Amino acid sequence: MQTHKYDVVIVGAGGAGMRAALESGQRVRTAVLTKLYPTRSHTGAAQGGMCAALANVEEDNWEWHTFDTVKGGDFLVDQDAAEVMAKEAIDAVLDLEKMGLPFNRTPDGLIDQRRFGGHTRKHGEAAVRRSCYAADRTGHMILQTLYQQCIKHGVEFYNEFYVLDLLFTEVDGVRRTAGVVAYELATGEIHVFQAKAVVFATGGAGKVYKTTSNAHTLTGDGMAIAFRRGLPLEDMEFFQFHPTGLAGLGILLSEAARGEGAILRNSEGERFMERYAPTLKDLAPRDVVARAMANEVREGRGCGPDKDYVLLDLTHLEPAHIDAKLPDITEFARTYLGVEPYTEPVPVFPTAHYAMGGMPTTVDAEVLADNSQVLPGLYAAGEVACVSVHGANRLGTNSLLDINVFGRRAGLAAAAFASRAPWVELPSSPADETVAQLEGIRDRSDGERVAVIRRELQETMDANAQVFRSEATLKQALSDIQALKARYQNIAVQDKGRRFNTDLLEAVELGFLLDLAEVIVVGAMERKESRGGHFREDYQNRDDVNYMRHTMAYRTGEGVRLDFKPVVVTRYQPMERTF
Ligand code: FUM
Repeated sequence: MQTHKYDVVIVGAGGAGMRAALESGQRVRTAVLTKLYPTRSHTGAAQGGMCAALANVEEDNWEWHTFDTVKGGDFLVDQDAAEVMAKEAIDAVLDLEKMGLPFNRTPDGLIDQRRFGGHTRKHGEAAVRRSCYAADRTGHMILQTLYQQCIKHGVEFYNEFYVLDLLFTEVDGVRRTAGVVAYELATGEIHVFQAKAVVFATGGAGKVYKTTSNAHTLTGDGMAIAFRRGLPLEDMEFFQFHPTGLAGLGILLSEAARGEGAILRNSEGERFMERYAPTLKDLAPRDVVARAMANEVREGRGCGPDKDYVLLDLTHLEPAHIDAKLPDITEFARTYLGVEPYTEPVPVFPTAHYAMGGMPTTVDAEVLADNSQVLPGLYAAGEVACVSVHGANRLGTNSLLDINVFGRRAGLAAAAFASRAPWVELPSSPADETVAQLEGIRDRSDGERVAVIRRELQETMDANAQVFRSEATLKQALSDIQALKARYQNIAVQDKGRRFNTDLLEAVELGFLLDLAEVIVVGAMERKESRGGHFREDYQNRDDVNYMRHTMAYRTGEGVRLDFKPVVVTRYQPMERTF
């Protein structure tokens, strides 16, 4: 076992992790641990843009942005946090511009902006151009830009290091963050990183579902590690289904297509969103569009031999415009479905995309150990965290914004904490639990296959906890998950080696997914209302009297325990949500 000592350790090298590293690395000794090579992080898959009320192409302001975020999130958003994000959005974009990010430009040389779902002027009057973008590769460009800046500033990276545990030490009766335990993929060696502050920026958990825009690596590691260490997870029942996944595959086809004028049509050729959202139509928030699409299919107006998808029509757009603004996603349609978007509509259906919930934090990215107590030295930012700026449904382009605003805040806060706080001792035998877990799986000669259990988990989640849910489907999902958890105890891997043993790590990741799926389903069962991305067929209305509250899930020996926390309301009282 090797040990290392850093003031700040950042776990994850996506946008949030690297934005944090850029701040922390210039102030205190900082290491970034990532299970991938940094530029393979999932931020690179984000396509359409990062929003900020720059007002470069039409009138806009941060207050309208805040309002849209709150209404888009179906009033479950903590409004103080949304104000911070919308205000700081402008500098966040300008910071990236100064770092060299190649944004698309207006003819006057300003950063160009385009429309995205739920972003409006004058509190819902019409769609506004708020998304700053680099073609349909905005996340890719952010990742490259931040990585270059981190290298320039000498941030130390530990690539292909899987963090598997979080260490605490009690000082005067108070739990303090002490470091993390990591597994080095290349060698199978265990490393203990002692740190005064740890920032979790480990991303989402989309692999809980089968049909997802998320990469293979999005297994909710940070959320699950925190949960197993007794920390709460907030609002996990809210999972976003992005309307336009490539049908049958789930690969993301950016909402930017609709921002540039593409239209959703059913089997009758009807622009059906006119019925569901008369003002914003195809640019209504994602929960509204995804539900409308699923409903068209359920009512028999789906397309294709099995009538199980709808069509995204770009055929009225100029090919030159498509090539300039949407080059990657149109290539995806050609490559994966054999469809030519210049002349043919593209088959699409909702795909699991984003966890609105996660580790609860303050606006300075400090992790909460309960409804109000900060856990000293622990920070979280990006999709792993729940600030909560996305409430029950995130607006498109608010996630690239979230990682930049709260990634920066996390880096600053962690560095400040590390500068003032004394070192705490590591717990004795800090890696024992991790080693026992890994050896337990590796040593089992025969048992359940990882891929089989993962597939069954994803299938039950797709079937029972997707766009539409009910008591009956959620009960089925919970009983399936609990049976799979029991089988997981007997999991075995074929690769018994130490070097590059991805088989072993996938087994560990599956354990994380199972824990998180249970939290999602238990939270969804308890929330007997429909709000944002959580639609209960048996409780179809929003219920502000009983459910205008955050769900806080804790792990106990008897299963998941739920507690609740009020929503922070500053300016906007809940109102009817029409678009
Ligand atoms: O549709 C998209 O380009 C995705 C953006 C997002 O999730 O924010």
